[in-house]
Amino acid sequence: MNAFIQGLPKVELHLHIEGSLEPELLFTLAQRNNINLPYSSPEALRKAYEFDDLQSFLDIYYQGANALITEQDFYDLTWAYLQRCHSDKVMHTEIFFDPQTHTERGIAFDTVINGIYRALQDGQHKLAISSHIIMCFLRHLSEESAIDTLKRALDHKDKIIGVGLDSSEQGHPPKKFQNVFTQARDEGFLTVAHAGEEGPAQNIVDAIDILGVSRVDHGVRCVDSPELLDSLVESQMPLTVCPLSNIKLRVFDDMSQHNIVELLRRGVAVTINSDDPAYFGGYMTDNFQAVSAAHAMTYNELAQFTLNAIDASFIDPSLKHEYRRRVEEYLGKSI
Ligand code: ADE
Ligand code: ZN
Repeated sequence: MNAFIQGLPKVELHLHIEGSLEPELLFTLAQRNNINLPYSSPEALRKAYEFDDLQSFLDIYYQGANALITEQDFYDLTWAYLQRCHSDKVMHTEIFFDPQTHTERGIAFDTVINGIYRALQDGQHKLAISSHIIMCFLRHLSEESAIDTLKRALDHKDKIIGVGLDSSEQGHPPKKFQNVFTQARDEGFLTVAHAGEEGPAQNIVDAIDILGVSRVDHGVRCVDSPELLDSLVESQMPLTVCPLSNIKLRVFDDMSQHNIVELLRRGVAVTINSDDPAYFGGYMTDNFQAVSAAHAMTYNELAQFTLNAIDASFIDPSLKHEYRRRVEEYLGKSI
């Protein structure tokens, strides 16, 4: 089973590029940028990655992002992630970035997006990995700040396919960002949002109805509402589920309690993703393996996660067709 998972072609739809900053690269960047870290080594930093909930993670994650200063830093961060994608057989990735985390501390929007974009272009040319960029608004900040960020993104419309919503879900419901999401859609951006990770099922309903999202990020709390669950099956609204993240942030007690396989079997369009792999103990293959170790699944079920992700992606139809063909060819060889 592990060999099947390793070779399975994959598509990632929920990855915060700042969350792929491994302790070793963090130390290299801190040294390069003359930043003092309150840890003696990458190993000591890694040991500090014990979280009680989403907020306790976010506090450490925003601290780590402070080491990213230059365009080359953002390039190196993204390039390191793409190399992991290459080993994990990821054909396509749609990555989030949090511009406000950087602009709030004086880093130019252009510095961030240009570094990420240049690495993704190299990923396409040198590793044959296709990609899109989604810009997330931080929900603990105001809607005015999100609107200001949207304005800055207009010069980079050619590089950014959509907008999303992340950070602290509790106390910051989708409705707070209704206006900025309407403006983003009017400008032609697709929309997604984190909802139902720690927050209630109603946030999933509101992300769909008020923010007009094409996908829900996480969404695992949908099981609290039987009507919502039925409507997700009916509409085939995709959920970008992040199994190892949910265990690390204690959304579920352990992987055997995780509902992703139950949702798959109910006919919900669930996908497997890594969220913040440097902090949660694994990239795409690790996430597939962790789910498969806790829940017996067939090859077809495992491949269905990739087929769901291809359908849910923002790739154009001809490339979707090619990626489906690769999965079917792989299945044909494996069975
Ligand atoms: N930012 C980075 N990872 C996140 C997560 N899992 N939930 C909300 N915001 C995030
Ligand atoms: Zn996330």
